[in-house]
Amino acid sequence: MDQIRIAGGKTLKGRLPISGAKNAALTLLPAALLTDEPLTLRNLPRLADVDTFGHLLNQFGASTHTQGSRPEDFGRVMTMSANRITSTTAPYDIVRKMRASILVLGPLLAREGVATVSQPGGCAIGNRPIDLHLKGLEALGAEIELTSGYVRARAPSGGLRGGRIIFPVVSVGATENVLMAAVLARGETVIENAAREPEIVDLARCLVAMGAHIEGIGTERLLVEGVDRLHGATYAVMPDRIEAGSYACAAAITGGELLLVGASRELLGSSLPVLEEAGVRFEDQRDGLLVSRPDGLHGVTAQTAPWPGFATDMQAQLMALMTVAEGASVLTETIFENRYMHVPELARMGADITVRGRSAFVRGVPKLTGAPVMATDLRASMSLVIAGLAAEGETIVRRVYHLDRGYERLEEKLQAVGADIERVSGD
Ligand code: UD1
Repeated sequence: MDQIRIAGGKTLKGRLPISGAKNAALTLLPAALLTDEPLTLRNLPRLADVDTFGHLLNQFGASTHTQGSRPEDFGRVMTMSANRITSTTAPYDIVRKMRASILVLGPLLAREGVATVSQPGGCAIGNRPIDLHLKGLEALGAEIELTSGYVRARAPSGGLRGGRIIFPVVSVGATENVLMAAVLARGETVIENAAREPEIVDLARCLVAMGAHIEGIGTERLLVEGVDRLHGATYAVMPDRIEAGSYACAAAITGGELLLVGASRELLGSSLPVLEEAGVRFEDQRDGLLVSRPDGLHGVTAQTAPWPGFATDMQAQLMALMTVAEGASVLTETIFENRYMHVPELARMGADITVRGRSAFVRGVPKLTGAPVMATDLRASMSLVIAGLAAEGETIVRRVYHLDRGYERLEEKLQAVGADIERVSGD
């Protein structure tokens, strides 16, 4: 299995392109099931999960055609055509590889009246239930049965009907699933306490481009007036705010200066003030966001929260940065119960971190040292790369497949700005 080898201590400098957002792509792809006309997505990142989603769509009888498949192409274009759906089952073997597969439930149910999707189960960062997805779809009239590890959902005769959903907690996935179902339901749907993440805004805008009627986009109250059918569209995936934030941490930890091409202060949302407080400087430029760290790094206090709060997907990368900051930091994870898998690995590189309940106390150390490390999820793996870039000596990051799920051509992008990093095969 491939590994990433990093010789730490190089200052990063130069232009680094930001790819299309993974989390937006993975909710825009299932939207193709809502119409019998082609949906073309531009600026799709070249990621393992995007390929897997393409295969999942093929399982339902949808065709997928990709342009820009050459290794040198950033931002692929995929045209999906679900003019005839031949299967409504998402099998275990695909869902277990990619949790986002659950997002086909709403579209299949809305379009075909039935859907059978393997239950995703827990994962390395926590329990990750789907009860809110199911309750939301039930509010639109769906009948749901859980048997043999599968969710079997059926719309009432005449199809889904509008309803009112009040989510007790903010859920990105449940908001996406219910929104995609509601656009084809009969009548009006109100989603209260909806997630407001920029990726949901991206989904809603794409649905509107396909003919959906949605009001309140970007707010916690979405109002949907169902339509009989949607049509095809061409839509560009938004830039990846988490990738941008991750590379901002990489620039800062090495004391470098990176122009994150395609990023902006606005894109980073509330990760930006936290990083600024830590000593990172951001400057909007014509084609991107210039990130530097003119002076030392300082410890911060941050708590993850749904948008517009500090993103749980940035917690591990911020923690890596804080391991070498002056003073102490307190990072609190409120979204997932088990999202500290990177802590023991960072500790092996010399970091001083104590976890108590949902909070991690990080005391900055003067330097990290390279070590062989591995992580069990995507963002945790990136935190180890960030730490490795600053560490003295060599770091080997194992289980590279996590990184391949979420960071397009990571080592190429970092090499181009001066990092000593390469992919090597190993076992
Ligand atoms: C979450 C993150 C998202 C991140 C993604 C991958 C939030 C609000 N969501 O999205 O930013 O990109 O992980 O790391 O930050 N929940 C339930 N029942 C459900 C669904 C969710 O109880 O049916 C709970 C979850 O356990 C969690 C919270 O709601 O505590 C938010 O989960 P949700 O937003 O649905 O997770 P993802 O969509 O995976």
